[in-house]
Amino acid sequence: MKVLVLGSGAREHAMCWSLSNSPLISKLMCAPGNPGIAEDAQCINIDINNNSEIISLALKEKVDLVIPGPEIPLVNGIIDELDKVNIKAFGPSKEASKLEGSKQFTKSICKLANIPTAKSEFFSKKEAAINYIKNNKLPIVIKADGLAAGKGVIIAQNEDEAINAIENSFNGLFGEAGKTVLIEEYLEGVEASFFALCDGVNAIPLANAQDHKRVGDGDTGPNTGGMGAFSPTPNLTDDLNDNILNNFIQPTLIEMAKRGSPFQGILYAGLMLTKNGPKLIEYNVRFGDPECQVILTRMKSNLFEAILSAVDHTLENFHLRFYDEVALTVVMASNGYPGKYKINSIITGIDEANNIKGVKVFHAGTTTDSEKNILSNGGRVLSITANARNIEEARILAYQAIKKIKWSNGFYRNDIGKTSF
Ligand code: AMP
Ligand code: GLY
Repeated sequence: MKVLVLGSGAREHAMCWSLSNSPLISKLMCAPGNPGIAEDAQCINIDINNNSEIISLALKEKVDLVIPGPEIPLVNGIIDELDKVNIKAFGPSKEASKLEGSKQFTKSICKLANIPTAKSEFFSKKEAAINYIKNNKLPIVIKADGLAAGKGVIIAQNEDEAINAIENSFNGLFGEAGKTVLIEEYLEGVEASFFALCDGVNAIPLANAQDHKRVGDGDTGPNTGGMGAFSPTPNLTDDLNDNILNNFIQPTLIEMAKRGSPFQGILYAGLMLTKNGPKLIEYNVRFGDPECQVILTRMKSNLFEAILSAVDHTLENFHLRFYDEVALTVVMASNGYPGKYKINSIITGIDEANNIKGVKVFHAGTTTDSEKNILSNGGRVLSITANARNIEEARILAYQAIKKIKWSNGFYRNDIGKTSF
């Protein structure tokens, strides 16, 4: 089969790396891809935020299956568009992608399906939002309703911060996404990510992981897309995994099917493990990045067969197997990220890092120059992933590998996997 992956991050590199050993795939393509992905797939430079460019490419290359990595093509309805031209795709429809694209939609599903989540209210008028702040407990969480690349969430410790966040959102800081604001109860606890592979009716767990979202050591500084992750997380016991599958994922699938938008693809639950049990912070409709890197390097089953089973609605008979090993990944990012950063600085030593047994370096924002040097080309640039018997050994291995990489303009967190359990 001819397969087209969409995306250019370390997540998509891990996906292509994993798919590249499938005997069922005769040609693996990735749009737009990156120099790391180019080792596993043919990279084709198109704009994946533009549905018609994807459709033209898929038709021209006679693609049998499209696998989007990031949320934007899904929220833009690429699955529905591909369906119109009879091309199979792995991922939710535009309507089902609202589980990520609209917090308001997800909150309504939570209410209908009885899914535990933080108490919240939506506001489309600044004054009413400010009034609500004045009458509720601090800290309090302010969120833009739509997609804001992980940056639309402010945890306000005091009233001034809360009012400032509301004003910024209504003044257009998050564009259209911030025209409706969600104000939510602050949840205290440890975060965990749970992934399920779904075929519209059935869901099977795709392993869990813990992400490190803040930019700085000790969980300080602003939120990022994720600075590192490990899988599995000891915080999610077998009982909790069952609880999440039965009380979050399954009721969501039932509710989505009931309203005529069955969910096919990866459902990613971002959870807060509070003293009153797990609560849903958000749904995403795709793999997490960097969580994908640690899940796929642990996967024993063939990823492509698992994806086909979800697309063909036959997950009921599918078993996903994972190695017992732990995987941990450390993200190297450009100085300044998640704010402004410079690109085009040379990175060396990636091969030396990859030569360490148990280590795989996934590329995100990289490019090459005319002499084939690897240059930085984005915020998050590399994801150094190590597999070992336990978290501690995987940490040591990942940081050993990072020492081999020479990049004057990059930084990373020193404490990935050092969370308290
Ligand atoms: P979200 O974009 O909704 O996933 O939020 C981004 C991050 O903000 C989460 O990963 C949490 O670290 C934090 N967060 C979001 N909502 C809450 C909440 N209600 N209570 C505490 N932290 C939260
Ligand atoms: N690592 C968080 C995300 O992919 O949304």
